Amino acid sequence: MMRLKNQVAIVTGASSGNGRAIALAFAAEGARVVCSDLKREAREGGYEADIKSATDSVITERGGQAMFVKADASKAGDVETLVRRAVEAWGRLDIMVNNAGVFTGLKTIVDETEEDYDFTMAVNAKGVWLGCKFAISQMLKQEPRGDGVRGRIINIASIGGLVGLAQEPAYCASKGAVVNLTRQLALDFAPHKINVNAICPGFLATAMVRPFLEDSALKAALEALTPWPRVGTAQDVAKIATYLASDDAEWATGAMFTVDGGFTAR
Ligand SMILES: NC(=O)c1ccc[n+]([C@@H]2O[C@H](COP(=O)([O-])OP(=O)(O)OC[C@H]3O[C@@H](n4cnc5c(N)ncnc54)[C@H](O)[C@@H]3O)[C@@H](O)[C@H]2O)c1
Repeated sequence: MMRLKNQVAIVTGASSGNGRAIALAFAAEGARVVCSDLKREAREGGYEADIKSATDSVITERGGQAMFVKADASKAGDVETLVRRAVEAWGRLDIMVNNAGVFTGLKTIVDETEEDYDFTMAVNAKGVWLGCKFAISQMLKQEPRGDGVRGRIINIASIGGLVGLAQEPAYCASKGAVVNLTRQLALDFAPHKINVNAICPGFLATAMVRPFLEDSALKAALEALTPWPRVGTAQDVAKIATYLASDDAEWATGAMFTVDGGFTAR
């Protein structure tokens, strides 16, 4: 049975990595997916098998429904237009995945620049706030589904929002903001049957983390800190996102779903 049949989903940062895996997984469950990103092509350095094809093309080639909408997740006008485009195309918005995120490299706060901080906060923290704002506004306007559910929001945070990660000050601050925004919104919109949850992944094989995985000392350090004996993947995140988007997750809200091979269990 398709778990997301005919539901309309937006995924930000959908061209690469986690966003791409989530968009593909949702489409495989029958969702119509608006794939949004700064550009349609995947980031170089990713681990995707079909990296030369755009996410929306892969979905349509597999018989699913998808479209690409260019939007900068840190710009209010772009995010408002993104939600409007989804509604114009398919009449409603059932699932919003705020996944677009950036990481500017390992530095302590001594060397991190004000520009690093502003850029990281603009995309990772404000971007999620904007995505929630415009998605929830639409979900409140539209008719709820038969079971009263108005929509589901999934924010991609990080274990860096739950614990400190060495040399990632702005990134950890931005993900901490996502974690507690998620809890806050869950309270305000539970009465409206809008779930707001976050996924907190550990280190995964995506373009963002390739520099870590190609540095043998860093890779060994990550392996030593991760009890589960393999590196995480975008598909590990996509499987949790699919559960959170589905009816199986109806009573889950305001929760942080850690998927980190046990990194934060110690
Ligand atoms: N890779 C990891 O280990 C890891 C761990 C925890 C959390 N995360 C989070 O997962 C999310 C996705 O990361 P990823 O590893 O897939 O990275 P990635 O770099 O492979 O993909 C990120 C995508 O987001 C897009 N993007 C960046 N800025 C954007 C903006 N302003 N507007 C729209 N799109 C934008 C990029 O173009 C890219 O396609 C991020 O929020 C990241 O912080 C990643």
